[in-house]
Amino acid sequence: MDSTWQHTTVLLNEAVAALLTKPDATYVDATFGRGGHSRLILAKLSERGRLIAFDKDPDAIAAASRLADPRFSIRHAGFRHLDELPAASVAGVLLDLGVSSPQIDNPARGFSFRSDGPLDMRMDTTRGESVAQWLAAAPAAQIAEVIRDYGEERFAAPIAKAIVARRQERGALATTAELAQLVAGAVKTREPGQDPATRTFQALRIFINAELEELQQALEASLDILQPQGRLVVISFHSLEDRIVKQFIARHSREVFDRRVPFAPPKAMKLKAMERVKPSAAEVAANPRSRSAIMRVAERTQA
Ligand SMILES: C[S@@+](CC[C@H](N)C(=O)[O-])C[C@H]1O[C@@H](n2cnc3c(N)ncnc32)[C@H](O)[C@@H]1O
Repeated sequence: MDSTWQHTTVLLNEAVAALLTKPDATYVDATFGRGGHSRLILAKLSERGRLIAFDKDPDAIAAASRLADPRFSIRHAGFRHLDELPAASVAGVLLDLGVSSPQIDNPARGFSFRSDGPLDMRMDTTRGESVAQWLAAAPAAQIAEVIRDYGEERFAAPIAKAIVARRQERGALATTAELAQLVAGAVKTREPGQDPATRTFQALRIFINAELEELQQALEASLDILQPQGRLVVISFHSLEDRIVKQFIARHSREVFDRRVPFAPPKAMKLKAMERVKPSAAEVAANPRSRSAIMRVAERTQA
């Protein structure tokens, strides 16, 4: 298995402190990864506490199967399946979004433009289409839309055109190096300190894993499964994710008035926004991958 590739947990103490309020209760780690947060949660739970973890990635599931603790269980599923847990059954939900270091660092997973590997990028390698398969048939307009919307890439249209031209001339792209090289040729202005392929790889990864749709579904599900005073803790790594989390918390932390019924009492808010935390300078220095992290915390109300 992939013991060569390690993951340094981001905001470890901060996330667990915000999540865990009752040591006897049940918690969810919706993104097990290599279990950094899960291990600390288990260390703080009492014998009666429980931790249910999720991950899409078979390598994460293999790592979790080595965690022998009767209070712990793992599900190989996307976190949109949080809605399968009983209503008001958990005291905290943690989402530490995005990719783990083992996913990026293992060239065979195809997430990285820094090392060559098959152009895959699926978190769940047991199902769905790889990026190579999708790019082999998708229309140029759709490729451009994905790269523009999820990568905020100015050169989305020329990149998409170059992908389709290459596929017509020499067959579909198969490796990360082929894609990175092609993107570098289509991106005319380079951003300082950033590889020209950064935005395109981010976009394709978000798209192929339906990351933003699944995040939205998981947030909605968390409202149902959290008990009153239960905590929602979300760590995101780019502005598209953080915007969804921020707007979700804002939307549910407002009393909603029905304009058609002016004197009716407002619908009660379901969340109370609590805090927004960024990694300390010391954490960023020790783990540069933490630099873009933003953690948001909200508490479920009685409503
Ligand atoms: C940043 S890592 C989590 C690291 C973990 N907190 C730790 O300390 O080891 C994100 C993990 O979430 C998983 N993941 C991402 N999107 C997911 C989804 N929609 N459903 C389930 N797991 C997901 C990835 O496979 C990856 O293992």
